[in-house]
Amino acid sequence: MTDETEITLTVNGTEHTVAVEPRRLLVHAIREDLDLTGTHIGCDTGNCGACTVLKDGEPIKSCLMFATQADGAEILTVEGMEDLPASDGLHPLQEGFREEHGLQCGYCTPGMLMAGKALLDENPDPVEDEIREAISGNLCRCTGYQNIVRSIEYAADELDARAATDGGTAAADGGATAGDDTDAEFATAGDADTFCGLEDCCGGPDGDRESFDDQFDRDHLGGDDQ
Ligand code: FES
Ligand code: FES
Repeated sequence: MTDETEITLTVNGTEHTVAVEPRRLLVHAIREDLDLTGTHIGCDTGNCGACTVLKDGEPIKSCLMFATQADGAEILTVEGMEDLPASDGLHPLQEGFREEHGLQCGYCTPGMLMAGKALLDENPDPVEDEIREAISGNLCRCTGYQNIVRSIEYAADELDARAATDGGTAAADGGATAGDDTDAEFATAGDADTFCGLEDCCGGPDGDRESFDDQFDRDHLGGDDQ
């Protein structure tokens, strides 16, 4: 029998004590011991960035760290984004990925969101090259990255607008305006029989807003299992 060590991880603001073998990777502790499966595993070798989380505010690839190395750390995973002060339901970054079509299969999305969060925490007004550099350790097999860059730009603009409105704090109703705009867009999209309403759309889900939102939140933005 392998010895286990008790460690303490504060994940998304909640302290957990877990017993782990010395060889257990942080990503497995997060996904399997804490059941936070929004953090994905794409390669287990540090190449894809799907497992990116913030450890004490810094983006790390959680497949490259033993859980014991994170003992005592504050971890933010994608599930914690909805509880951040800037969030109103979805965080502006999550909104950005929805509004700017920053995902297709969504597998890379949690890691992209965390890389984007780390960037905007350090640099609230990044230029395109800085965004591309910040996500350069995160691979996406679907999107070509352009819409991911736009999604992060959307979040930067939205956070800036909220700060201007609220004197630097997140607006309690800051997302309501965005939500209203989105509703209008979906109404149009419904007429076009597609989610996005664009010509040559990829053929994504049609204009059933409520079920689409539920599925989108669950599958790609930090909801339940994948
Ligand atoms: S699973 Fe960690 S970098 Fe790919
Ligand atoms: S959206 Fe499929 S891997 Fe990025």
